[in-house]
Amino acid sequence: MLDGGGKQGMRTQVAIVGAGPAGLMLGRLLEQAGIDAVIVERKSADYVLGRIRAGVLEWGSVDLLERAGVGRRMRAEGLVHHGTALSFDGDRLHIDFTGLVGRQVMVYGQTEVTRDLMAIRQGLTIYEAEEVELHDLDGQPAVTYRKDGVAHRIDCDFIAGCDGFHGVCRASVPQQALTTFERVYPFGWLGVLVDEKPVDDELIYAHHPRGFALCSQRSPTRSRYYVQVDAGERVEDWPDDRFWDELRRRLDPATAEALQTGASIEKSIAPLRSFVAEPLRFGRLFLAGDAAHIVPPTGAKGLNLALGDVAMLAPALVEALIERSSAGIDTYSARALQRIWKAERFSWWMTGLLHVFPDAGAFGRRIQRAEFDYLARSRAAQQSLAENYVGLP
Ligand code: FAD
Ligand code: DHB
Repeated sequence: MLDGGGKQGMRTQVAIVGAGPAGLMLGRLLEQAGIDAVIVERKSADYVLGRIRAGVLEWGSVDLLERAGVGRRMRAEGLVHHGTALSFDGDRLHIDFTGLVGRQVMVYGQTEVTRDLMAIRQGLTIYEAEEVELHDLDGQPAVTYRKDGVAHRIDCDFIAGCDGFHGVCRASVPQQALTTFERVYPFGWLGVLVDEKPVDDELIYAHHPRGFALCSQRSPTRSRYYVQVDAGERVEDWPDDRFWDELRRRLDPATAEALQTGASIEKSIAPLRSFVAEPLRFGRLFLAGDAAHIVPPTGAKGLNLALGDVAMLAPALVEALIERSSAGIDTYSARALQRIWKAERFSWWMTGLLHVFPDAGAFGRRIQRAEFDYLARSRAAQQSLAENYVGLP
């Protein structure tokens, strides 16, 4: 069908921009409720699947994946973690999630979550859409894009902006309608994926005078490791040997000794940032996930927040479209921001405890040590960490 502007036209109830975890999960939840949604994604499906990102699911996310009907592989292949280790200048501290708060997390990679959601989706996803633009957000909204040189238009009732931090949705909101809050950290994480047995049964978050390091995993035979690097470092300057040497230096001697290294199968640098845009709504556009907020990865909250947003947004949109009630969409932003700011606080705190800050000085370093020592001796402090890490309700 051609619209008046000579574009190929179609209509849907919800146009979702972005096929990351937020967009795909929203599409799935709407599909389950009988709502028609089209997803428009800038990259190819393979490109989206090739991005190695988060690895830890809060139990709320596990439950959501089950509800969405994509829990089978996660249940079979995911690793339930009952605790995590912190290490500070070589001193180890175990945080026992089960003993402290009676809950656990699931280690199951974002790539796998994305793959499962892609596989179950029945609705239309348009990959490799170029020049995606949003229109008439206050009236009768539409999304336009080009695909293979042809212009397309999707008219819709609502648009969901699930297109990540650098997407077009937040950028389409008039500047005066958004308030943004931001902290940029002067370092990033260099991550390596390797087909070797993980160094430990649990994750190890390590502070060392040379910088932070994290030992994570994807399966009993695949490991994910990170080291803090200065902002501006380039992956090309980190051959595998240099990475493994640096990681070993930041771990306690026993862990460094046990580390099994190999040829990396992926290596990338992620900058660290805290960011929130308020509110999450402009007219008929709703922002969710990284499009609205970013956390530094230290607390493993980014993916969980994205899933939490759409778990709130989906029923609100269903209510608006089926029951013609705006109660859910009117309060979506305020409700989601409550949870978002708590995760922002926790991720900022954990980043502050574990990283080396170039301008912290001797006082700042002693405060970090005191914080670790307090944590090591206070059940209340450990309980607070555990409660936030496994995910607030
Ligand atoms: P995204 O996953 O970013 O998905 C957005 C989608 O929108 C993408 O597929 C993108 O291609 C698409 N898109 C962008 N612009 C457009 C456009 N104009 N038109 C159409 N489509 C568009 N979190 C952790 O907890 N632990 C980690 O280790 C970790 N590592 C990370 C590493 C990197 C490099 C990044 C960027 C993030 C990392 N995160 C991590 C955060 C976590 O992965 C994100 O919070 C999560 O991906 C958010 O999901 P999302 O669906 O909101 O956004
Ligand atoms: C992973 C990433 C994180 O940010 C984190 O806190 C824990 C694990 C990971 O990629 O495995």
